[in-house]
Formats: sequence, C-alpha cells, structure tokens
Amino acid sequence: MTAEILDGRKTAAELRENVRHKVVAFREAYGVQPTLVAILVGEDPASSVYVRNKEKACAKAGIAGRVLRLPAVVQQSVLVEQIHQLNADAAVHGILVQLPLPTGVDPRPILDAVDPLKDVDCFSPANVGLLMQGRPRFLPCTPAGIIQLLRRYSVSVQGRQVVVVGRSDIVGKPMAMLLAAKDGPCGAEYANATVTLAHSQTADLPATVRQADIVIAACGQPEFIRGDWLKPGAVVIDVGINRSGERLVGDVAFEEASKVASAVTPVPGGVGPLTIAMLLHNTLQAARLHHWAQ
Ligand code: GUN
Repeated sequence: MTAEILDGRKTAAELRENVRHKVVAFREAYGVQPTLVAILVGEDPASSVYVRNKEKACAKAGIAGRVLRLPAVVQQSVLVEQIHQLNADAAVHGILVQLPLPTGVDPRPILDAVDPLKDVDCFSPANVGLLMQGRPRFLPCTPAGIIQLLRRYSVSVQGRQVVVVGRSDIVGKPMAMLLAAKDGPCGAEYANATVTLAHSQTADLPATVRQADIVIAACGQPEFIRGDWLKPGAVVIDVGINRSGERLVGDVAFEEASKVASAVTPVPGGVGPLTIAMLLHNTLQAARLHHWAQ
C-alpha cells in the first residue's frame, strides 16, 4: 500500500484565502483591520522563524501582525504588564505568547494574563473550559486545523477509533476533546470519535496505536511511531516537527508508515501550515467579538 499524502499546504492555502475574503468584508463593514500581536521572548531560532511566518501570513490575509520582542531575561512582572497593556488596547484584537518561553519563565501566569477575548491560541483557562463544555469561543489552532484537513479529505472520524499520542495542553488534550465531542467545528462526521489519549506511560503503546483507525501523533519524539505499530489502512496525522541533522522529521517514521497507512501527512507541509491558517481565522474571530460587543 502506498499512502495518499494529505497536503496541509494546499488545505491551508484554501483556508487562508477564505479568511482573506472575510477580512475584506469585515474591514468594509467596520472600517477596522483585525490586528494580532505576537510576543516573542528571547531568541530561540525556531520560535523566531515561526513568529516571522505568522507575521507574513497575517500580511497576506490583510491582518495587521505585530511582534513584541522581549529579552530572555525579562521579569515576569514586566511581561505581565505588557500583556495588560495589550489587553487594554482596543486596536489589538488577538494576542499570542510564542511558546516555549525561555527556561526559568513560568508560562502559567503569563498565559493566564491574556484577556480570554483576545486569546487566539485558546490557552486561557476560561477558553479551555468553554471548549471542554462544547461551546468554544476560540478553537485551538492545531487541533482545529487537523479537523479541517480531515474534512478536506473526507476522513470521517464518527464512530471510529482514534488514538492521540501525546497529552500536551496545546495539541493532545484539546484534540482528544474536539474529536470526542458530539458535534464539532466541521459537523458531527468530524466529531463523535472513540478517543484514546495515549502518552509515554501507556502500557504497550504499539498495541494501543494498532487499534486506531486514525492516529494523531503529537508526542514530540522524532520518528517514534513505527510502521509496524499501525493498523493497515489507518490514517496518520503527524503533528511533530523535529530536527534530525539537516532534515525535519515528524513523530512518525514516514517511509514505514506510508507502506501501511491509507493516508499520511508529510513533515514539513502537513499540519504546520494549518496551525497558522487557524490562527488567522481566530484573529478575525477575535476582531468580530470585539466589534459585536461594542
Ligand atoms: N509554539 C508551538 N506551537 C505554538 C502555538 O500553537 N502557539 C504558541 N503560542 N506557541 C507555540
């Protein structure tokens, strides 16, 4: 079997074009440009690239994207005060704090400081709570992007076994929540799954993964999930982006998986571009929330 490639770049381009049109309509209706501020603390090279990509994507979608750069040695109180200022600035609709923060900076009080109405990452406790209750204000970008990709390729998850490997707050937990919900952003066919949230302590992880019709790999370990862990015909979504020498690799051994799976996302060009597309969507949503509340 040679797996179909689920093209995240193409799907993201379609989503971004859709957001661009809606941004034009929003600007015509309200005379306001949706605005996102990304906070980058320190000089982590990968984070700098991600933030630059977000800036570029904003510009293409007609969204104003600004970056607030702060030194790695910034005091927590200074960072929180900067966020409070952005919260109070009516011209700023979305705020994101690029993760990871430098070693020694506790992310919790920083992320908690972001106004939930501007929390385009969907990291604040209020927004995570709303998501858990099935009435999301914002959708978490990477999980929502994955659901869009599944819909684009008509991979229904309803009634099927999904194994999510990795229990992070950014991907694993919200992904499991969205897929297990009764209804979802793309309708019941892309929700209603039977979800197993697996992790590093799961006993016999290969056997658990082998039960899955759909595998979501988000454990952050290069090529960790092997081809012989997969049920033949499974759909494999690889969230990992790991450096292996000169190459970028996912959390799944791609060549092996391609021989067993029916469909698989590549790295790069799979899930990564979808995250940014959904961030643009959320920024527009934040601008709408702001103006509807006027
Ligand atoms: N670092 C890696 N992924 C993300 C993300 O989706 N949002 C933020 N803020 N930081 C990240």
